[in-house]
Amino acid sequence: MPVLVDAVLRWLEPRPGGVYVDATVGAGGHAERILEACAPTGRLVGIDRDPQALEAARERLSRFHGRVQLVRGNFADLQALLRELGVRVADGVLFDLGVSSLQLQHPERGFSFQLEGPLDMRMDPAQPQTAADLVNRLSEPELAELLRRYGEEPFARRIARSIVRRRPLRTTTELVEAVQAAVPRSRWPRRTHVATRTFQALRIATNRELEALQTALDEVPEVLRPGGRVVVIAFHSLEDRLVKQAFRSDPRLRPLLRKPVRPTPEELSANPRARSARLRAAERVEAVS
Ligand SMILES: C[S@@+](CC[C@H](N)C(=O)[O-])C[C@H]1O[C@@H](n2cnc3c(N)ncnc32)[C@H](O)[C@@H]1O
Repeated sequence: MPVLVDAVLRWLEPRPGGVYVDATVGAGGHAERILEACAPTGRLVGIDRDPQALEAARERLSRFHGRVQLVRGNFADLQALLRELGVRVADGVLFDLGVSSLQLQHPERGFSFQLEGPLDMRMDPAQPQTAADLVNRLSEPELAELLRRYGEEPFARRIARSIVRRRPLRTTTELVEAVQAAVPRSRWPRRTHVATRTFQALRIATNRELEALQTALDEVPEVLRPGGRVVVIAFHSLEDRLVKQAFRSDPRLRPLLRKPVRPTPEELSANPRARSARLRAAERVEAVS
C-alpha cells in the first residue's frame, strides 16, 4: 500500500506526455498510480537497487508495458542511469525512502526484528558488506557511534557493549537479545520495539543510505526540466533533515511546502507503515544566475 499517495500525485502533478522517475520503485505502488495519472502517453522510469523489488514491480506494472522502463541501480547514480536510458530531463522525480514491506516480510533478508533471519540487511544483495560484518567487526566505540548517529539511540554505549560481549552475532534474534539485555526493561519504549533504533542504524549504515540520499539530492536538479518537481517521502528525522536542507539551500530548487505533509489518522489506521512518513516537494527553477 503506497504511503501518502494522494499527496504524491498532487505535488508531482503527473500529466500525459510527461517523463517521471520513481527512484525507489519498490513493488511499484506509487509507480502504478503515477502511470495511471499520466495516461495515455506519460512514461515512467523505475529504479531500485533490489532485484526482488524490481521483479515485483515488473509484475505489477506489466499492463503499462511500453510506458515503463525498470532499471536496477542506486539512485546515487541518478544522472548516469537516466543518461544510459536516453533520458536527459524528467518532469518529476519521486523518492519513497527506506525499507519496503517486501524486504521486511522476507526473514532471509534480515531487516526485521520480528522475524528470525541472518543479519544481512543489504538492499542490494550484490554489495559485499552485510549488517553482520559491521556488528562483528567494528570496535565497541565505533559501534556505539554508529548506533548514536544513525539510530539516535540513547542507550548506544550499553548496547554496543552488550553486542561486543556476545559476538559473533549471526541472526536478527541474537541482535534483539543483545539489545534487550542492554536496556533496562523499565526504559523499553511503549509504542515501538526496543530494538527499532538499533535495526534502523545498522540498516542505514549497511546500505550507506544517507550518503546515497545526499548524492541524489545534489544531482536531482540537473535531471529536472525547469518547472519539474521532486517529491521525497522520508521516514526518520536524519533523512528529513537532509531533504529540508537541500530544498532550502539549493538555488536550483524552490520548496513548495512550508511544512511537510503527514499522513491523516485514516491513512494511519489503514497503513501503520505510514506512521513516521513526511513528504516534502520542490520545483526546479527556470534559470539560475
Ligand atoms: C519504501 S520502498 C518503496 C515502495 C514503493 N514506493 C511502492 O509503492 O511500492 C523503498 C525502496 O527503495 C529502494 N532503495 C532504497 N535506497 C535505494 C537506493 N539508494 N537506490 C535505489 N533503490 C533504493 C529499496 O530497495 C526499496 O525497494
